[in-house]
Order: sequence, then C-alpha cells, then structure tokens
Amino acid sequence: MRRVRGAAHQRGGCGEGITLSGLEAVAAFGIGVDARRETSGGKGEPAQPPEGRDLGSIGRPGEEFLELALQDELVIRKDRLIARRTKAASFRELKLLPDFDWSFNTSIRKKQIYDLATCKFIEKAGDLLLIGPPGTGKSFLVQAIGLQAIRSGRTVLYRSIFDVVRDFLKDEAFAGEEKVLARYLKPDLLIIDDMGMKQLPKRSGEFLFEVIMRRHELRSTIMTSNRPIEDWGKLIGDVPSATAILDRFLQHAEIVTITGRSYRLKDRACRKSTKKG
Ligand SMILES: Nc1ncnc2c1ncn2[C@@H]1O[C@H](COP(=O)(O)OP(=O)(O)OP(=O)(O)O)[C@@H](O)[C@H]1O
Ligand SMILES: [Mg+2]
Repeated sequence: MRRVRGAAHQRGGCGEGITLSGLEAVAAFGIGVDARRETSGGKGEPAQPPEGRDLGSIGRPGEEFLELALQDELVIRKDRLIARRTKAASFRELKLLPDFDWSFNTSIRKKQIYDLATCKFIEKAGDLLLIGPPGTGKSFLVQAIGLQAIRSGRTVLYRSIFDVVRDFLKDEAFAGEEKVLARYLKPDLLIIDDMGMKQLPKRSGEFLFEVIMRRHELRSTIMTSNRPIEDWGKLIGDVPSATAILDRFLQHAEIVTITGRSYRLKDRACRKSTKKG
C-alpha cells in the first residue's frame, strides 16, 4: 500500500494516516457516484463519507475528494510513464537545460536551444544537426532536449553512432535485422550522437542510410558531429552513402553551428590562470 501523495494529500484532502493511492482510496472508501447518492444529506447539502467510514480530517464534500484522488492518480501515472520512457531512451547522462553554463560559450544561443526544447520540430518531423568542436556541449544539449521531449509526451532513443553500428552488426550476426531497425524507427525522436569521433567500420553508411531514409519526413532525428559534413564521406568510408544520408537529413534540418573552446578544458584554464596569479 502506498501513502497518498500529490494533489489530494497536499491540499489536505485526507488525513496523515491514510496510506492509499487515489484510486485505491476511492475503492476502499466507496466514494463513488453511488456512495455520494447514499450519503448526501439532500439537495444542496455536502455529501458525507459512508457510515463507519469517517475520514476524520477530510471535512470536504466527497465529490471534491474524488476529483483530487483521481488527479493524484493521474500525476502518479504520468510520473511513472516519464520514468519508463527515460530509462528506455538510454541516455548516457541525464542533463537539464537550466544546468547549462550559457556564459561559457556565447556562440550557443540560449533562445534557440530553448525553442528547440519546446519540441515543435518533432511535430513537423523536422531534423536537427549540432555541429562544432569537441567539448562544446553538443551531447549535453541533445540529451537535455531529449529529456524535454519525453516530458512533453514523446518517445526518444539516444545512441552514439558507435552504438548504432554495433547494434546493426550484432543484429545481423544473429539474423534479427528487422528487430533492431524497428527499435530505431519507432521513437518520435532518435538522437545519434558523436558523429566524427573516428573512422567508422565498413557498412556503417548502409546502416545509417537505412535509418535516415526510413525516418525521413516521418519522424525526427538529431545528430551531432565534431567534424564538418564534408568529412562524413571519409568517416563513413562510403561517399555515395554519406551524400545520400546528408541529402535527406539536411532537407528539413535546423543546423546549430557551435564554435569556441572545450568545456572539458575549462578547469585547466582556470588552474593555469590561478597559478600565474
Ligand atoms: N556550457 C556548458 N555548461 C556546463 N557543462 C558543460 C557545458 N559544455 C560542456 N559541458 C560539459 O563538458 C563535458 C563535455 O561536453 P559534451 O560531451 O556535451 O561536449 P561535445 O560537444 O558533445 O563533445 P564531443 O564532440 O567530444 O562529443 C560534459 O561533461 C558536459 O556536461
Ligand atoms: Mg558528444
């Protein structure tokens, strides 16, 4: 049994000792339509809890209690759904936009990122590319946008490009290709992080092309890269595939170009200047 929390609890809808969730409480105390009919004192009079089921400190009409209890249950269910989807997204880290240090790199426009975090681009099946040098916060920002997408009711999958390639190679070895592909096609938002880290294994272009082509104009994809798109052919080891991927991906993509130095070196820079001082 759970302790009542949320709306009903906070607004004093039930006493301290009650340890039921909203719907359980409704069921246990029978405060439904029939119970209200039975216990109502008549026209205009507030309903009373059924006999022998005195709720003590409630002091509210049963109808209001029922509403609060249901609201409570809905909040609990929504929280659980968000938690489940966050786990399924398999983010590397849980990042929140308010924790981003906007003063460190002024090439990143706060308003643009917050606009993207409203997830309107997902409604239009638009894509997004974040491109810039290592350590400038691309992975931070895309994971924060992903979390926001889940909070606004979407499903998300976060994978680094290496995960993508590994998933497809493994799947192929075990002859379950469609299963992995389905996993990549289903979410409202797919985030493919870390393009450009290093040369990708053979056939990476094929896998990536399949995913991008099948999601194109149907569902949103975010990619990040610390190498210019001109280098993608070399990275993938397949210039025609890279061209076909970019042709589709960039058709409806917003591009966020980041410049500046790595946040990873921030502390080192601070330490150096302290030493000098
Ligand atoms: N502006 C920032 N405010 C707070 N933390 C930041 C900021 N920028 C980066 N970081 C932190 O610095 C580290 C590197 O950032 P991140 O991994 O997001 O960079 P990246 O652009 O994805 O780099 P790479 O191209 O190497 O993947 C992370 O721990 C991240 O949380
Ligand atoms: Mg990164």
